[in-house]
Amino acid sequence: MSDRFAPTKVYVPRDATALALGAEAIVNAIASVAKHRGVDIEIVRNGSRGMFWLEPLVEVVTPAGRIGYGPVKADDVPALFDAGFTAGGAHALRLGAVDDLEYFKRQDRLTFGRVGVVDPASVEDYMAHGGYRGLQRALSMVAGDIVKEVADSGLRGRGGAAFPAGIKWKTVHDTIAAQKYIVCNADEGDSGTFSDRMLMEGDPLSLVEGMTIAGIAVGATQGYIYLRSEYPHAHRALRTAIAAAYAAGWLGANVHDSGRRFDLEVRLGAGAYICGEETSLLDSLEGKRGQVRFKPPLPAIKGLFGQPTVINNVITLASVPTILDRGAVFYQDYGVGRSRGTLPIQLAGNLRRTGLVEKAFGVTLRELLYDYGGGSLSGRPIRAVQVGGPLGAYMPESQFDTVLDYEAFAKLGAMVGHGGIVAFDDTVDMLEQARYAMEFCAIESCGKCTPCRIGSTRGVEVIDRIRSNVDRDRNLELLDDLCNTMRYGSLCAMGGLTPDPVMSALKHFPEDFGTRQ
Ligand SMILES: Cc1cc2nc3c(=O)[nH]c(=O)nc-3n(C[C@H](O)[C@H](O)[C@H](O)COP(=O)(O)O)c2cc1C
Ligand code: SF4
Repeated sequence: MSDRFAPTKVYVPRDATALALGAEAIVNAIASVAKHRGVDIEIVRNGSRGMFWLEPLVEVVTPAGRIGYGPVKADDVPALFDAGFTAGGAHALRLGAVDDLEYFKRQDRLTFGRVGVVDPASVEDYMAHGGYRGLQRALSMVAGDIVKEVADSGLRGRGGAAFPAGIKWKTVHDTIAAQKYIVCNADEGDSGTFSDRMLMEGDPLSLVEGMTIAGIAVGATQGYIYLRSEYPHAHRALRTAIAAAYAAGWLGANVHDSGRRFDLEVRLGAGAYICGEETSLLDSLEGKRGQVRFKPPLPAIKGLFGQPTVINNVITLASVPTILDRGAVFYQDYGVGRSRGTLPIQLAGNLRRTGLVEKAFGVTLRELLYDYGGGSLSGRPIRAVQVGGPLGAYMPESQFDTVLDYEAFAKLGAMVGHGGIVAFDDTVDMLEQARYAMEFCAIESCGKCTPCRIGSTRGVEVIDRIRSNVDRDRNLELLDDLCNTMRYGSLCAMGGLTPDPVMSALKHFPEDFGTRQ
């Protein structure tokens, strides 16, 4: 029963997007007007629901559900009080029950089920929304069965390479060592991606729980979150959540009175794209300059400080509590083909409604761009999308009916990657985009192998000659040759995949390279 004398809960996101749009000023305004008018409220700082065009989205708990108002500006606050918004009163910014908004309602929110809903700092609120049920079940299981549950769910790495999580965990589980580690890759360097950030800011305990389950499953007692230094709000949220988990006995020497140990720390990244590549990340975590290591040995056998190490992306690990709580069959019921479960898709670039959409694999690009994204913000036709970050291929309109599925994308020479989609309208210059991809590689290359270190610099020069119409045919041939050398001769996917955006731009938009009209 609700307590009619309890203060009204007002949610104002502390997510980086909402903060950038003035959420802090709104909190101050709400607190000050409430005090002045004697309205009894409690402000809770939640994450974002992922509908960025509505941020800052203020929510009020009413008997009819959580009523949203947005996008709110600090100047709107007195009028919102005049309208009785703390009781869900009518106002031009009133959106109705947030859970019923079309964009939100049609999603499959499994991993993001609590993001924007709970207080990220509260273990109590986390548990009230199903948190720690997965770990409790894991603690009652034999370690090998936890690994099997993850394998049976079909969960594949969400960081980009889509490697089956269960196989990686089994390798670490089966390797005998005095010390093993769980490392979370929270470097999130891909352009147009922000799902890791949103999860860490909005529901950090699900990552903490997922890492603890991984530790119990493979026999690791120490975890590290390698967080990009550009995420100060996620850093604060993680530090608070980890401290709360320790205080509540969910981390430490005796996890939930099980006699099992799991300790967890956050380490800040070095600010380089290549430090997101797992072996560079390990070097960086060990205090060295982040440079790609030769494989084998695999990190699962010889990883951090030479010990067996599970390295997984934030979303991979944060998906695990749901799998343990609801079972492998429940999770793998979502999706298509070998792409099981859901993917938090990030819509960015020239779209009317950018944000985060969690859907089962199988949704088409067109649905995402138009039904969710609302088409281009400029109102012009969408000409191309880049999926999967700066190393992802550019896809033309003729490929917009492709379903989100790792294999379907691979067949087109594209990749789903971390699920970031950046849209461009028909004013985009695809030669410029191709040049940007090469230049990005030249700037971010770790320098260990020649095809990437030298090839990317030469690539920029070749594209510049094509743009200036210097010996165009010969330089186009040279570009093709250079891309093949990078693709097949590079040590890691940085140099190996840079040709994808370059050659897809040339293949699908030859007119921008002056070759065909
Ligand atoms: C150049 C480069 C950058 C990468 N950056 C990231 C990153 O920022 N975050 C991430 O999770 N994976 C990144 N990866 C993928 C990781 O190497 C690795 O596959 C991942 O951490 C494994 O976790 P997962 O299996 O859960 O995806 C990158 C790979 C390459 C080649
Ligand atoms: S491909 Fe580039 S980033 Fe990867 S090892 Fe070679 S030089 Fe380093």
